[in-house]
Amino acid sequence: MERIKLKALLNDMTLEEKALQLVQLYGAFLGDVDVLTGPAMSFAKMPADRPYQVGSLLGEHGAEHLIDLQDKMMAIQPHHIPALFMLDVIHGYKTGFPVPIAIGSSFNPSLAKEICSAAGKEAAVAGLHVTFSPMVDLVRDSRWGRVMESTGEDVWLNCQMAKAEVEGFQGDDFKDKGKLAACVKHFAAYGAAVAGRDYNVTEISEHTLHEDYLPSYKAAVDAGVALVMTAFNTIDRKPCTTNKKLLRDILRDEMGFKGVVISDYGAIQETIAHTTSVDHRDAAKKAILAGCDIDMVSPCYIQNLVSLVEDGEVDIKLVDEAVMRVLELKNDLGLFENPYKDASSEGEKEVLMCREHLELSRRAAEETTVLLKNDGALPLKKNQKIVVVGALADDNLITGSWALFVDKDKTVTLKQAISELYSDVNVSFFASDEISDEMLEAAESADVVLLALGENHTKTGESLSIADITLCKAHRDLFDAVYKVNKNTVTVLFGGRPLALPEVAQKTNALLEAWLPGTCGAYAVADILFGDANPSGRLSMSFPYTTGQLPISYAAFTTGRPKPNTDKFVPYASNYMDYPNVPLYPFGWGLSYTNVEYSGVSLSADKLTKDGKIFASVTVKNAGDMAVLEPVQLYIRDIKGSVVRPVRELKGIEKISLEAGEEKTVSFEITEPMLRFYDDEMNFVSEKGEFMAWIGSTSLTENGAKFVLE
Ligand code: GLC
Repeated sequence: MERIKLKALLNDMTLEEKALQLVQLYGAFLGDVDVLTGPAMSFAKMPADRPYQVGSLLGEHGAEHLIDLQDKMMAIQPHHIPALFMLDVIHGYKTGFPVPIAIGSSFNPSLAKEICSAAGKEAAVAGLHVTFSPMVDLVRDSRWGRVMESTGEDVWLNCQMAKAEVEGFQGDDFKDKGKLAACVKHFAAYGAAVAGRDYNVTEISEHTLHEDYLPSYKAAVDAGVALVMTAFNTIDRKPCTTNKKLLRDILRDEMGFKGVVISDYGAIQETIAHTTSVDHRDAAKKAILAGCDIDMVSPCYIQNLVSLVEDGEVDIKLVDEAVMRVLELKNDLGLFENPYKDASSEGEKEVLMCREHLELSRRAAEETTVLLKNDGALPLKKNQKIVVVGALADDNLITGSWALFVDKDKTVTLKQAISELYSDVNVSFFASDEISDEMLEAAESADVVLLALGENHTKTGESLSIADITLCKAHRDLFDAVYKVNKNTVTVLFGGRPLALPEVAQKTNALLEAWLPGTCGAYAVADILFGDANPSGRLSMSFPYTTGQLPISYAAFTTGRPKPNTDKFVPYASNYMDYPNVPLYPFGWGLSYTNVEYSGVSLSADKLTKDGKIFASVTVKNAGDMAVLEPVQLYIRDIKGSVVRPVRELKGIEKISLEAGEEKTVSFEITEPMLRFYDDEMNFVSEKGEFMAWIGSTSLTENGAKFVLE
């Protein structure tokens, strides 16, 4: 519909209609509770047809159901305006893909794009118009259960992933078949919740907000994301959802976002609990003034927006602007011409869990799995006698907590994968955490014991914060009992967050992080264990020795008393008496089965001018006998600054394939804009001086060269 007609439609709507366009409810209000993604909400009694007139619904899905629901809602809506159907499709709709923290560990944004494209196609054919994804919150504290949903601790990597995921879901035009509108979340800095406790306040400086937390949302906005979701937390002591500086000054004026802003689940109402709003009316007023367009599942807008305008407390102009953005989103999706968009029962049969998506789910897990340690125990040999221990070895709850509609019965467990793919290997399973004599006897007589430890997806996700990230006692005891009878162990970790397991890591011969690998991910884990796939993942988030090191990141600062290079405690230096400063495994860490050799870094020039560019190059050789995908990483350090600067920051990744014996040259372009940061007056600038550029296989690389910005 042309914009002028949209304008005419807006002008023809009553104030009541306009207010309802800014309300999102979930199925229970229509007597259809399919999924609840937050606490059940109770609203004052409303006329039976009122819920059918709202602008959008959360949680409804399925082609036939949504076609029927759309018909009902449009029939009742006075101008027959189509509704928007929104859902959390974060790591898959029906096909489960590896969770985002795993996708981040692929160090491969194009894989992220592929996954979001496949997930979006499944969601679109099921009648959905908007996905509440990507979640791009920077995370550096794995006490927070939602680190599972993030692509990790690094600013640059999260920006690349945010861009790729928006492009995957939306394509060139989200009106197109198989595409849908994306909603970046949670704006902003939800991952900075104090002490990793979900829904907690944040206490970060304006500098840290702009330098570390905002860039990934900006990357999504620059990629054309259609919606932004406000976060539950406060920033600078103000709830994000009613934070005008955040939503209007930063998001709209600075970042140039022109799309729809939707609150998180009940977040407008929650400003009352935050104690910054007196009641629903006050919360509604603050939210619309701050620039929050849609009220997700709270009574604030539906009960107060009309009277706030009628009483002159809210200018109708603000409501019109918000409604116009919602109408434009519906128009951009083509809903005025085709209110069902891609919804098709026939299409569902063809697309949902199709072979291509199941294969992608497996291939993705090959790239997201991270080999953390290997003293030669991996790959397993097919003539070994192997005993597999641990309930997680046969647990199908490994598709992630947002896999709301992923078919758990079709999720392949590690036991199923090994039994199916390696049926000729002598493997016996004790898929329990129980320490039994029978299991111990079998373990003692085995050549190697494979333990499946960590968390399934009921232990990690929204609201599932833990104060202690130590591997659970049951799993520590299980490992110790096995280790006592057989020192040859390989440990596979499942889960959605870095856990603290220094003792297990020290004792086990090999440690593989499988994360929550999705519907067919266990096939990939099995292939890696038996050497039919070469691991290529790199940690998207650091694994600390202990909870007390959190929050932690490789992009740390030196402090005024940097710890000298020693394992010992150093009095009067910035260090702990009981643990190192560094994590057990840092961001960017990961091994493969191949020895990859790097030449020294050669620079096309050692001086960079403001408008110039230099190239940092290495030759990378696969000196092993197995093909490998190698994530070649570029890290840069600004040696001196007007404010403190991190000891290194990821600024480039080239994930290349190398056949056995093959070598390739990888070149990274370095330009002045890459070196910019917020200086002490909050100007986003670069500063002349010396820089280091390192290129290597992990974030620990010392393979570098110095250059100067003139
Ligand atoms: C939840 C989450 C958010 C999700 C929304 C709708 O509370 O915070 O990420 O998109 O509600 O399900």
